[in-house]
Amino acid sequence: MKYKITILRQKLNDINKYEESFDYETDDLNKTLLNVILDINELYDAKIELEYSCNQKKCGACSAVINNYPRLLCQAKLKDYKKNNIYIEPLRKFNTIVDLIVDRSILYNNLKTLNLWLNEEAKLNDKNNDLVYRSSECILCGLCLEVCPNYIQNSKFLGPSNISLTTKIISECDIETKKELIKNYKEKIFSGCGKALACIDICPKNIKLDNLLVNINKLLRKK
Ligand code: FES
Repeated sequence: MKYKITILRQKLNDINKYEESFDYETDDLNKTLLNVILDINELYDAKIELEYSCNQKKCGACSAVINNYPRLLCQAKLKDYKKNNIYIEPLRKFNTIVDLIVDRSILYNNLKTLNLWLNEEAKLNDKNNDLVYRSSECILCGLCLEVCPNYIQNSKFLGPSNISLTTKIISECDIETKKELIKNYKEKIFSGCGKALACIDICPKNIKLDNLLVNINKLLRKK
């Protein structure tokens, strides 16, 4: 199969973007778009900059927008695309650093804003083990922020990427920390979430964020 792969590129320290297209041929339709870009770099000496580590949906580094739909590059396979023209661009709600690499620091800064960490030993709670296990699968890829209609950079609403970790930490912390987390959650997540739930379909780990939301919202009512 012959493909035309177009990348929306940007040079370092330059805000101008430009498109570059490459002809690419393979019979291996199971090839991921991450591997396609690595091939293109080798074939054309294209030097397309991108972030990746695991190549198996575990590190969350390779997020991009592919034919207008945000996905992990290591999740998207050639066979998923009916047309032979594939357009790849960096995530749009993050500032681009170079080519497909974006500044993802907001994901980590939000965790600091919400105080999402444990200061002491985890207090394991048998009741919600399944929920907590699922919540710990979040890889902070940022795709849920990309599709959330209520999230914009620097807004008061910190976005759905924090729901998983909030679930996890709330289930393992002491009562005082829990109160603080619920207060933060109410101000910075609950009041901004419009329940569009676009984050559910996009999550590459299939985390049921609606279940997690319901669980935290229940705690909120008890408070
Ligand atoms: S390279 Fe790790 S999630 Fe894609």
